[in-house]
Amino acid sequence: MNALQEKILKLKSEKHAIFLVHNYQRKEIQELADFLGDSYGLSVQASKTDAKVIVFCGVDFMAESAKILNPEKTVLHPNPKARCPMAAMVDVKSLKELKAEHPGAPVVSYVNTTADVKAESDICCTSANAVKIVQSLPDKKIIFVPDTNLGLYVQRFVKDKEIVLWPGFCPTHVNIKVEDLKELKRKHPDAEVLVHPECTPDVIDFADHAYSTEGIIKHVVSSPKKEFIIGTESNMLHRLRKEAPGKEFYAVEHATCPNMREITLEDVYNSLLKMQYKVELSADIIKRARLPLERMIAAGR
Ligand code: 13P
Ligand code: SF4
Repeated sequence: MNALQEKILKLKSEKHAIFLVHNYQRKEIQELADFLGDSYGLSVQASKTDAKVIVFCGVDFMAESAKILNPEKTVLHPNPKARCPMAAMVDVKSLKELKAEHPGAPVVSYVNTTADVKAESDICCTSANAVKIVQSLPDKKIIFVPDTNLGLYVQRFVKDKEIVLWPGFCPTHVNIKVEDLKELKRKHPDAEVLVHPECTPDVIDFADHAYSTEGIIKHVVSSPKKEFIIGTESNMLHRLRKEAPGKEFYAVEHATCPNMREITLEDVYNSLLKMQYKVELSADIIKRARLPLERMIAAGR
């Protein structure tokens, strides 16, 4: 621990706070986490904490979800510039138009959406349970927003339903190309290729497996393989090296999410010191967005 990390931990206990940290955060922030995980795991933790203050180190929609699940608690997002561009690719007006074009079709919103879009949705999902949730719905037609690539991934396993897609995407994951993976595979022929389902279909076809960030970690820990090519945000390697010492990991160097990296240790310190930036949502949005999120949590992984 460095001096600033020590100061943060002291403040954290004075303020009765908990740190929820996504797997893509900077290493020095991951080291402070009470819980480090994927979007699904973080939502579960947010729904059951009894801490007074939640400091959420991740992008905007994650901190919003924590607030929706804990309206009475203070949820701090240390840097409001940490916003997920994919979540901004669908808005309520467009979603309402899409719903009008497909009357009766339930809306499955990827958790990477704003709170007001969640409020217009029937159920949320994460990459850890998207297939399970779409399979569980009795309807033959499903609206899936905003990630086209995750929707196409789900469609591979759900052949009996029509999935109406939205043209959203993750700029970080669509930038991971088959050529990048092939190049790494040439250098490390024994390595298993693991990617995130936000990658494009050709990348998923090339990979050995596609998993949520937590799914990648679980796979690596239990696999007899010793080398892995990781097709997702490269900060994942910190946790992978910690959880699977002795194994080798090869990242796609340019696979970085600048939005996740907006949050610095200084931001976390200032967040606790000044109790900033508080996530504020209207009571109406919280009430309507809570049910789809609770359904997502209840569905399990
Ligand atoms: P996970 O839910 O797999 O952690 O993914 C979150 C995310 O933003 C991926 O880009
Ligand atoms: Fe959003 Fe992509 Fe960054 Fe995940 S990696 S937070 S989906 S921009």
